Amino acid sequence: PVAGWTAEADVVVVGSGIAGLTAALELRTRVPRVLLVTKTVLASGSTVWAQGGVAAALDPADSPAAHLADTLTAGAGLCDPRAVEVLVTEGPARVRELVAGGTRFDLDLAGSLALTREGGHHADRIVHAGGDATGAEISRALVAQLEAVRADPGIEVIEHALVLDVLTAAPGPDGRPGPACGVTLHVIGAGTRDGVGAALGRAVVLATGGIGQVFRSSTNPAQATGDGIAAALRAGATVGDVEFVQFHPTVLWLGSGVRGQLTLVSEAVRGEGALLLDTDGVRFMPAVHPMAELAPRDIVAHAMVRQMAATGSDHVLLDARHLGADFLRARFPTIYERLLDHGIDLTADLVPVAPAQHYHSGGVVTDLSGRSSLRGLYAAGEVACTGVHGANRLASNSLVEGLVFAHRAARDIATRVAAGDLPRRDPVERPGPDALVAAAARSRIQAAASAGPGVIRSEEGLLRAAERLGAVRTDAHHAVGIVAAPQPGEWETTNVHQVATVLTQAALARTESRGGHFRSDHPAPDEAWRLRLAATLAPDGTL
Ligand code: SIN
Repeated sequence: PVAGWTAEADVVVVGSGIAGLTAALELRTRVPRVLLVTKTVLASGSTVWAQGGVAAALDPADSPAAHLADTLTAGAGLCDPRAVEVLVTEGPARVRELVAGGTRFDLDLAGSLALTREGGHHADRIVHAGGDATGAEISRALVAQLEAVRADPGIEVIEHALVLDVLTAAPGPDGRPGPACGVTLHVIGAGTRDGVGAALGRAVVLATGGIGQVFRSSTNPAQATGDGIAAALRAGATVGDVEFVQFHPTVLWLGSGVRGQLTLVSEAVRGEGALLLDTDGVRFMPAVHPMAELAPRDIVAHAMVRQMAATGSDHVLLDARHLGADFLRARFPTIYERLLDHGIDLTADLVPVAPAQHYHSGGVVTDLSGRSSLRGLYAAGEVACTGVHGANRLASNSLVEGLVFAHRAARDIATRVAAGDLPRRDPVERPGPDALVAAAARSRIQAAASAGPGVIRSEEGLLRAAERLGAVRTDAHHAVGIVAAPQPGEWETTNVHQVATVLTQAALARTESRGGHFRSDHPAPDEAWRLRLAATLAPDGTL
């Protein structure tokens, strides 16, 4: 699209969840000019919805080595141990910095950080805030820090800015994509930066979050349309582990027709002792895994789906009643209120739950400094594939990943800017996607993705999904082609379609089951598949 305005900074940070805010705050003191752009308002995205907490070995009885071991186990053989090592050793310091910066985590009776446990952890190492409102409190504190410096000429914030494409400089003689030098944005605002424009910088940090809107039901908010991974793909960056999607086991089930963002019932509720029962009232997890209800998330979700099939039901039940009404109301105030909105009393009722999409373990492949395969393009948080999660993310490792790797990315960029290693470059004119997908096609894409690369996958289901997604592109009714002024709805749906397509393709390729990728036609892990699938986008829109 033709840019109507141009903003310039040293670094353009896209997204204002924990990773984007951390990167922007860290960069502000290290480079002359930072531009932070965010799709809605500063306090938005998936971070504010995070309930459980932040995993870090803070208890003297715990250790980074034990956190590392649990993370590797959850990742089912595909974590990059170097990335996990960084996560578990730097995580505690980043959590302490959050506290110093004003985040009010819950304290125990001795005044130390209260630590809880979630699935896959063998120690109490999850810090939380407001009981079950951890992400909202972290976001509040980071946004407050940012607001305090917003008048500073070294930082500009543009809200209501949807990222369209990553701008790149001319390709090298080998034909490989040129370095990233900015992004195009569609801003819906009342300020000077309105409509389509370009934000240019020496480096771009993508911190755009996840892909929840690819599926019919997800715990993610409406903004999670995979914009960052889709833009990175179009720019030529390498993505990896795309097939690994985490389905959270305990999401409030309100009937199979209920779509969109669903209410999460944090794993911390099971961490405090809640049990899973099938609809006949039988507890089933002890027979499945030694950690029972606190087994890694993929194992719990798959066991639930099998139990649902065995009992002919589309949900199971979460029983927290024995934990006591006073405790539950104090420890899980947000969940208690959200369930009450649906007429369910956590202290007295069994809660109907079923798995729903929750997290994308794959994304834009980065190194330990957040660098993608494209010079000048960084990624941090859920959009990135740092290697920390492998085939399945350990509970509460996402906020800490955003903190640790956004911090590292910011430091790396600052060092390179100071060394003159990231010169300003002019973007080349290049067409956007060859055709934008009409916003009206969204539910058709979601239906294909949910039936294809959903909790339980098979070759037949994935081929059918690929066919349905292909038809969205060719069906004249749904593909609108290049139009003069496409609106954000078309860009978002194009991104959702792009992500659904590559996810289906990667899930078809991996003929085994591992972590967040379960194939009913290949139900066991296969040693030959103990590898990461990483690829760039081909001209036909596939990997
Ligand atoms: C939860 O509270 O169960 C979610 C925590 C996470 O996704 O890590």
